[in-house]
Amino acid sequence: MENFDVAVIGAGAAGMMCAAVAGQRGLRVVLIDHASSLAEKIRISGGGRCNFTNRDAGPANYLSENPRFCRSALARYSPQDFISLVKRYRIAFHEKHKGQLFCDDSSEQIIDMLVRECGAGNVTWRRPVDVHEVRAGTTFELSTSAGEMTAASVVVATGGLSIPKIGATDFAYRLARQFGLATVEPRPALVPLTFTSTGWEPFAALSGLALEARVSTSAGRTRGDFLEDLLLTHRGLSGPAILQISSYWQLATPLTIDLLPQFDATARLLEAKTGSKKQVVTELSGWLPARLAEVWVAVHGLAPDARMADVPDRQLRVLGDALNRWTLTPAGSEGWRKAEVTAGGVSTQELFSTSLEVRKVPGLHFIGEAVDVTGWLGGYNFQWAWASAVAAGQAI
Ligand code: FDA
Repeated sequence: MENFDVAVIGAGAAGMMCAAVAGQRGLRVVLIDHASSLAEKIRISGGGRCNFTNRDAGPANYLSENPRFCRSALARYSPQDFISLVKRYRIAFHEKHKGQLFCDDSSEQIIDMLVRECGAGNVTWRRPVDVHEVRAGTTFELSTSAGEMTAASVVVATGGLSIPKIGATDFAYRLARQFGLATVEPRPALVPLTFTSTGWEPFAALSGLALEARVSTSAGRTRGDFLEDLLLTHRGLSGPAILQISSYWQLATPLTIDLLPQFDATARLLEAKTGSKKQVVTELSGWLPARLAEVWVAVHGLAPDARMADVPDRQLRVLGDALNRWTLTPAGSEGWRKAEVTAGGVSTQELFSTSLEVRKVPGLHFIGEAVDVTGWLGGYNFQWAWASAVAAGQAI
């Protein structure tokens, strides 16, 4: 039987950070992971360069049934704190877009940094090791494939369900259920959206085409609205605008897409019509990629060579309104295989926001993506992993 102060289960972003913080406070920490390869999600993140935080991360960039829950942890460990750590390790980085910070070289540098931080805290590693059972008594008892262990505190950092092939499991939700804790139904987020093959047929040939668009959706009291790049695919829509809105989207609700957010397309079309000899396709090609203009004219029932002057105002209005308010209802998403994160998870009602400790099970903590706090695309999810990990690591 091995005895520890803290057992951290899951050695991803949040688990390594938490183990390092607790270890550096002098606690005896064991860090357990079932995967043979360390921190795969950090490794593949940001196209191999890890978008490790966002300079502007704040509570407004997160979804949760309790949007205020993340405030405390985010306020106490800010993007600037993580940037200072990265600078201490002399990891070169750059800002790419809207506050998103990436390593210049490789996400491996972030993994190495966290491993060294764990080393500074004398963290004991146990991996690949499976945790079969966690029992609560005066201390926690863990049955693992490496033997029995006891720990005064247990931190669950096993993440969400996205990308099962690199080791995602439902461990956190199962443990939550074992202790009678509520969970918010997990669902794929930051994920491409798909349409029925017949509905998408006219656009499928445009796969690979990208343009900036404003995409919005409403579900109950929450509304998402993003101005970002939109990418057409064989099966539907992707790109940053869609990944962002997917976290807000609910089945059977429509998306509204403004393909020309800079201006009122109907007014421009009616203005351009006067005395014009141009074809409608030519006019639209001045504003949109030409291939999209051709499909747009066809799906609105106009001949490919229809001239502006010959199209009734009523029809130009329909065409223009649809450009600013293209309303379409996805059939689904690409699911866990492609989702960058999991929305939902262990309910924040069950946890103290300052320590991520379970209210009714002292010593048990849930951190990172396992919790019902989901960030936007752009470094926000790692910032939550770091901040929630530090909150727990300091409180234990
Ligand atoms: P994480 O998933 O990192 O770690 C969980 C750990 O628990 C894993 O090591 C796993 O093996 C282990 N585990 C799971 N089940 C277990 C079990 N039963 N027993 C023992 N161990 C178990 N975010 C961001 O901010 N910037 C970015 O650039 C990206 N890029 C990105 C790309 C891709 C392709 C994906 C899939 C995701 C991203 N993300 C991202 C999201 C980000 O990777 C994610 O939010 C964090 O890694 C979550 O950190 P956690 O530590 O909570 O879980």
